[in-house]
Amino acid sequence: MSEGAGKAQEKRKIQAIKGVRDILPPETALWNRVEQTAHEVFATYGFGEIRLPIFEATELFARSIGTETDVVSKEMYSFKDLPTRNELALELWDRSVQFTPSGDFQSDEEKQLFEERKKGELLTLRPEATASVCRAYIEHGMHTLPGNVKLYYMGPMFRRERPQKGRYRQFYQIGAEVLSHTGDLKDDARVDAEVIEMLTTFFEKAGLEGTALYLNSIGCKECRPKYVELLRAALTKVKDKLGPDSQRRIETNPLRVLDSKLESEQAIIEKLPRIAEHLCPDCLEEYTEVKKQLAMRGISYAQNFRLVRGLDYYMRTTFEITAPGLGSQNAVCGGGRYDGLVELLGGPPTKGIGFAIGTDRVILSLQDMRKLPVERALDVYVAWMGEKNYPAAVKIARRLREAGLAVELPPGEMKFGKALGLADKLGARYALIIGDDEVATKQFTVKRLEDGEQKKLSERELVEHLKAGEAP
Ligand code: HAM
Repeated sequence: MSEGAGKAQEKRKIQAIKGVRDILPPETALWNRVEQTAHEVFATYGFGEIRLPIFEATELFARSIGTETDVVSKEMYSFKDLPTRNELALELWDRSVQFTPSGDFQSDEEKQLFEERKKGELLTLRPEATASVCRAYIEHGMHTLPGNVKLYYMGPMFRRERPQKGRYRQFYQIGAEVLSHTGDLKDDARVDAEVIEMLTTFFEKAGLEGTALYLNSIGCKECRPKYVELLRAALTKVKDKLGPDSQRRIETNPLRVLDSKLESEQAIIEKLPRIAEHLCPDCLEEYTEVKKQLAMRGISYAQNFRLVRGLDYYMRTTFEITAPGLGSQNAVCGGGRYDGLVELLGGPPTKGIGFAIGTDRVILSLQDMRKLPVERALDVYVAWMGEKNYPAAVKIARRLREAGLAVELPPGEMKFGKALGLADKLGARYALIIGDDEVATKQFTVKRLEDGEQKKLSERELVEHLKAGEAP
């Protein structure tokens, strides 16, 4: 590369990568409010926050979400974490590995282990967090804790999907999980309903309107395979009326045909057998009880036999919540029951139920409804003049901030008119003038920008006066 070309490249603007975005103020205030609502509501239901790693062993997601799912087969950001030569050498040293005089491994086992380590570990940016919660549950022996284990989390997830409104490659979730190893079907149904009740409380407190809850049961490993065969047979009969994707799915995953948005397939899908009519007695009992529990709690829902969810770990109860103003990506929350997932990951037999809210979509819907938070206004703009008065300005600004006021202290000296103009543009309520006279007499001039009213006050009076005039 020529020097000129190198320089040109150096100057090229670097932008955020596709599907990834910055969230800026004042929008961040809305994010904070939504997240704070989750902290508060979830705490009232006895949930504790878990902070999880952003990346995990790829195998964790492959095993829990399922290798055939879109998430695992197409959408994960995975990379090889190769050890350096030094790290490898240190590992051998730590294990006191013995070598022959010619430099070969003394044991074949050690040699094999070394070859494996050299290949590096395959890691993945988490596409969701249920798998991580289960991993952490096992790793920390949480099954020994008293009662059900109730955890929630919030943070970024990563899926290489086609970006569009409400669909990003780095997106945010607020999720919660309940893990338990006791209780019967009736207890499970009550836990399901309480989790959904917590969700509806959250959406209500967050101010989201027009949400709809959709419910389904997708059966268990007893009844689902039988239903899938039934569905496959029904689909085979109408195969030539289906599009190429659905035709392929008849073989690979017939349940996914129910997900199809293709206009020409809608009437056909309506007539397909529905899983809720083919549940085994236990699944039927739980589903019936969940609906009873929701009704008892006054939570309205619609049954949706097409709600199969895209992740393999689900069984029995599944649900989704939609919100207005989002176009085609209108699911703001998805969840369901996943008994057996902990066991699949090497833990004890455990039941699980949980959900994840798509925070980006909640924010979009709130913005669409114009439910924006009241922005924190700037209380005081410090217009200081004369270099030697800067230390006095710093001292007063700190005192006002300690009193909880929002203060802007410009780092450089400005002409009086320019300082007041900027105070106005920044939306400050007051301008505090600090010049030679003020510092000498310890009487500071405060100007209310709304009407120009001016007062001379001592430092102590200043705090009281400004606090009294604070916006509610
Ligand atoms: P999920 O349905 O894959 O479930 O995702 C939950 C929610 O995350 C979706 O309803 C949507 O609001 C949001 N979401 C998903 N992908 C994107 C994206 N690319 N851009 C923006 N938002 C997105 C799960 O992740 C499960 N772990 C939920 C769960 C927890 N089930 C049991 N426990």
